[in-house]
Amino acid sequence: MKDQVLRSREWFGRKGKDGFIYRAWMKNQGIPDYEFNNKPIIGICNTWSELTPCNAHFRELAESVKRGVLEAGGFPVEFPVMSLGETLMKPTAMLYRNLASMDVEESIRANPIDGVVLLCGCDKTTPSLVMGASSVNLPTIVVSGGPMLTGNHRGGHIGTSDVWRYHDEVRAGKMLEEELLTIESAMCRSQGHCAVMGTASSMACMVESLGLSLPGNAAIPAADSRRKVLAQLSGLRIVEMVAEDFKLSDILTTQAFENAIKVNAAIGGSTNFVIHLLAIAGRIGIKLNLNDFDRLSAAVPLIANLQPSGKYFMEDLFYAGGLPAVLRELDGMLNRDCITANGKSISANYEHAVCYNPDVIATIEKPFNTATGLAVLTGNLCESGAVIKPSAASPHLMQHTGKAVVFENIEDFKARIDTDELEVDGDSVLVLKNVGPKGYPGMPEVGNMGIPKKLLESGITDMVRISDGRMSGTGFGTVVLHVSPEAAAGGNFAMIRTGDMITLDVPNRRLDTDIGTAELERRKREYIEPLPVAERGYIKLYTDHVQQAHLGADMDFLNGGSGSKVLRDSH
Ligand code: FES
Ligand code: MG
Repeated sequence: MKDQVLRSREWFGRKGKDGFIYRAWMKNQGIPDYEFNNKPIIGICNTWSELTPCNAHFRELAESVKRGVLEAGGFPVEFPVMSLGETLMKPTAMLYRNLASMDVEESIRANPIDGVVLLCGCDKTTPSLVMGASSVNLPTIVVSGGPMLTGNHRGGHIGTSDVWRYHDEVRAGKMLEEELLTIESAMCRSQGHCAVMGTASSMACMVESLGLSLPGNAAIPAADSRRKVLAQLSGLRIVEMVAEDFKLSDILTTQAFENAIKVNAAIGGSTNFVIHLLAIAGRIGIKLNLNDFDRLSAAVPLIANLQPSGKYFMEDLFYAGGLPAVLRELDGMLNRDCITANGKSISANYEHAVCYNPDVIATIEKPFNTATGLAVLTGNLCESGAVIKPSAASPHLMQHTGKAVVFENIEDFKARIDTDELEVDGDSVLVLKNVGPKGYPGMPEVGNMGIPKKLLESGITDMVRISDGRMSGTGFGTVVLHVSPEAAAGGNFAMIRTGDMITLDVPNRRLDTDIGTAELERRKREYIEPLPVAERGYIKLYTDHVQQAHLGADMDFLNGGSGSKVLRDSH
């Protein structure tokens, strides 16, 4: 559009004192006058940080994006936003997802930006950026950082999912501590995010299946030169998207969300996908609830044979044809007409995709596992719902009744789990409370809590475990997560005690206890609310406003968007 008035003209197109101020200080970067002459300003929203190892290569990636922007006649401006590193941040990176999303939203809106490229990688960096950008709704494209190369140890392939396995092997006396040190150096051997279908890869698949990235974005390894090519092409494309006034809300339709949910089931994606997609839907104004995930996932078999549900790694998925090959296999199940970032429909993007390795990407007719990637449970132990990942669980525990062994909080769990006194057997159900959004705070990834040492030593490798927390997308086991309302919100889950019977019935989507209504009411009268975890600062804001897991754990006042208009000037 030739006569299009760009948003950035409100800054750089001005005369007088305001225009002077907006341009003069930018010129200290050596920018000639003509750059301010109606060129689309493309913000490159960068989560680069040396404290987020998965995103540590992003400055290089941003250079490739810039090349594309320049090539298309745009003016690239790179800016940092809060970066959430999964492995280092305490008490959990999830506590800060909403804070980072606020940073992203306000940084985009407050600045002279016409279109945005979101550089996302490690788990929470994708949802926080997409959430924030959705509340502004400018033309936006996502470039993921890409997965690490597959780890290699003593001739075998390893990735993040092995962390949990090795840790249990050391506790069971089957592996020496010293070997772990060697593994440490062999697992994360290149730039990029976790190499399995953990949360980061699930998020990269989410943005591609929603249509927010160019085709192929999800699986290209970070170290592969084609990742840079994709970044450059994305830079080129965002300039066109600005000219077309092609906004996030044009892509993020109900049908696009339905596609993303089906794809996540087919790839055995992370349970964290549920929370993040609900939060994104809330920002862009799409109605989505927990039951939609079960309804849309139920008929979708697992076709991607990737850890933690299967055997392979993201690098293998790339060589097998990447996400486009998965989408093509799901063709009959997807909303084919959903428009994507490149302006084409999702089906046009995958129609020529080829699967090069049927062992990695199976077919709908002969899936790799008939167990679905996600089931939503309800019952008197989770009035507002809970989730489980059947594809990464044990089939023999899908219908199970056992006595609860309750841990009131993470400290209680750590203090008692490996003691001889703990009364527990393989049929017990481990319950961990107060690891929810308000309770911990921030809903950490502790839901796949370790099995008691004495049971590990006797050969038990899985048990039913229930919590109001989350699990790493790389984790596995018969683990019920996201119990809502969480214990700290005083629902039924808070009332469960050691010795109560719990029944998990995944085929019928139920999670119940045998505590009678009268007894529940009695316990509720005795219940003492936990003390607030913080009196000030962001954590106070968070715990006062965070919504429960079944609503995406976003803060109540962040629902929806405020658009891109700013009415007042700064001087
Ligand atoms: Fe960053 Fe796994 S720790 S993606
Ligand atoms: Mg994680």
